Amino acid sequence: MSILTQNRSVEDEDHLFRLLRQLDIAPQASQRATATALGISLGRLNAQLRVAADAGLIKITDRDDTDKRKRFAYVITLRGGSEKNRLTDAFLKRKFTEYDALHAELTGTTSGLSPFKHRTKLMQNNLAPVPELYVSYDSSQKMKLEAADLTSHDLTPRQICDLELLMNGGFNPLKGFLSEADYNGVVDNMRLADGTLWPMPITLDVKADYADTVEIGQDIALRDQEGVILGTMTVTDKWTPNKAHEAEKVFGADDSAHPAVNYLHNTAGDVYLGGPVTGIQQPVHYDFRARRDTPNELRAYFRKMGWRKVVAFQTRNPLHRAHQELTFRAAKEAQANLLIHPVVGLTKPGDVDHFTRVRCYEAVLDQYPSSTTAMSLLNLAMRMAGPREAVWHGLIRKNHGCTHFIVGRDHAGPGNNSQGEDFYGPYDAQDLFREHQEEMGIIMVDFKHMVWVSERAQYEAMDEIKDKEDVTILNISGTELRRRLVEGLEIPEWFSFPQVVAELRKTKPARDKQGFTVFLTGFSGSGKSTIANALMVKLMEMGGRPVTLLDGDIVRKNLSSELGFSKEHRDLNIRRIGYVASEITKNGGIAICAPIAPYATTRRAVREDIEGFGAFIEIHVATSIEECERRDRKGLYKLARAGKIKEFTGISDPYDVPTNPEMSMETENVEVDNCAHQIILKLESMGLIKA
Ligand code: PPS
Repeated sequence: MSILTQNRSVEDEDHLFRLLRQLDIAPQASQRATATALGISLGRLNAQLRVAADAGLIKITDRDDTDKRKRFAYVITLRGGSEKNRLTDAFLKRKFTEYDALHAELTGTTSGLSPFKHRTKLMQNNLAPVPELYVSYDSSQKMKLEAADLTSHDLTPRQICDLELLMNGGFNPLKGFLSEADYNGVVDNMRLADGTLWPMPITLDVKADYADTVEIGQDIALRDQEGVILGTMTVTDKWTPNKAHEAEKVFGADDSAHPAVNYLHNTAGDVYLGGPVTGIQQPVHYDFRARRDTPNELRAYFRKMGWRKVVAFQTRNPLHRAHQELTFRAAKEAQANLLIHPVVGLTKPGDVDHFTRVRCYEAVLDQYPSSTTAMSLLNLAMRMAGPREAVWHGLIRKNHGCTHFIVGRDHAGPGNNSQGEDFYGPYDAQDLFREHQEEMGIIMVDFKHMVWVSERAQYEAMDEIKDKEDVTILNISGTELRRRLVEGLEIPEWFSFPQVVAELRKTKPARDKQGFTVFLTGFSGSGKSTIANALMVKLMEMGGRPVTLLDGDIVRKNLSSELGFSKEHRDLNIRRIGYVASEITKNGGIAICAPIAPYATTRRAVREDIEGFGAFIEIHVATSIEECERRDRKGLYKLARAGKIKEFTGISDPYDVPTNPEMSMETENVEVDNCAHQIILKLESMGLIKA
């Protein structure tokens, strides 16, 4: 809790709450008007203002007004803003307890509104507003100016998604990024320190050197990537988490094949900061604005439409006919209206981009009766945590006013682990959800596996088909769909809607029309550049797509001239190459990269950057270090042996041999032309070029 609140009586807290609320609602009012609104004398008001100012909750400035009663202006400070949010909660809780006691006295039963966790109970009413962390517009304008002087943290894309849902109540009851005690509870038992169910650690990870500059009790400004201040956080906690433990407990294994574990170890900072957040403004979205709704906007919509029961469908994929059938059935089963609630924040690397997906959803929406179905976009950063993720998704949907939630087979599954097995069982998510649904206050509708029955020309739930032996059951998996798109093959009408297929084909042209990246890695002098040059010429001879060579030396001269060969600098160099290659790939070109790229994690990060746009072909030019040293074309090995060049790959710096490259090639006693030709054959076999 806030460090400012010790030793205040309940009565004082009430006064303070009323005062801050009044100043927030009517910041320009005269002292007399404020005193009247609060029902106290001017003298009392002045005393209260002084206490609040001494605690740093408001700032008193001279207004330069001749009218004595208007001489001072009062501005709620950042600290005052978050204190106001906390006091609002405390006030409500007390009032509900009083109400409940009265209710019990009069009726002998409990009102069902008050108890300990008043908010959880209240939320059972899916139409009442959910608490947000934003201050009023007037206060936000002032806070923005004040926050300009604070130490800033530039939020990562994932943190922006998290912050948006914290501020707009999507992550209710969280009031900020988790404190250490809440984090420990969430990681170990899926519960906040006060026992409230919450399955996912929502943490503000920062770099250690930044954390060193932040003191406990300090307010920091949270900025988006353009530097806009979205909110502030009072830092109450700072700690170094045990990431391996977090991975084991939250994601089920400390295995970097899991996208969130990989993120945890290779992207997230080493130190976590926690504390209450004060919301200043929503993150700006320029795309599909009309399709984005806060929890309270959706609740207001349901109220307006008179929707008392709403079943939410979560998805990160385009919708096809089976999904339509399944969502219809779920709505019918729950006798509820339907909310299609796709995630447009961060999803699994390699997913169809959200622009394409939203165009697909819009195309499908015509197939639903508009009076019973709504579609809204959710800016959530998924973690692909299977069972825990399903519970998290349920709580988020409950906050968005939904009463039911569809949980499918392998909900939010992350794919295979490094042993090639599933991380979670196919129904683990449903089991965990079922276990907690009463406490959560949202009901699960479990996913029926829908398949096409040819003879009856309709979708049916697989487990309900009695005559399986006598009918033809058809289904197209996600992998098969991708294959058909990539190879330009037919996608039948029973599977999807023509408009959806057309959208997908636009963004996923057949493989031989897509961009791709060939990434050669190996020791200095292994032959990477020579092979890359030969390959480039061959591809240019074929024509059709622009070819760009990003050779190690060329990049170091033109993109990375200030960098040396420390681990940090090499990583930066490779990430730059990856960035340029991903842009080339995205725009339909061919990028050939030929750096040493000695570290496996960096190569993987580059692969992930690129695979969203096109193929990534990693080629290990496996010339031995002895052979490279024998060749020593640039005379560098000699200098490295003599200690004149430090951190030389293979001599005094490590090289992680690729474990799973698309190709590995020997160059000893093999012509360069032949090496390039082998790559051409590989590209042909992958359908990336046509013979
Ligand atoms: S890295 O690790 O991928 O960033 O390296 P890269 O940019 O590909 O290196 C390009 C060339 O720099 C020369 N060079 C060194 N290589 C390795 N270690 C050290 N310390 C070093 N100092 C200079 C080396 O000639 C690389 O050349 P090629 O032959 O192109 O790989």
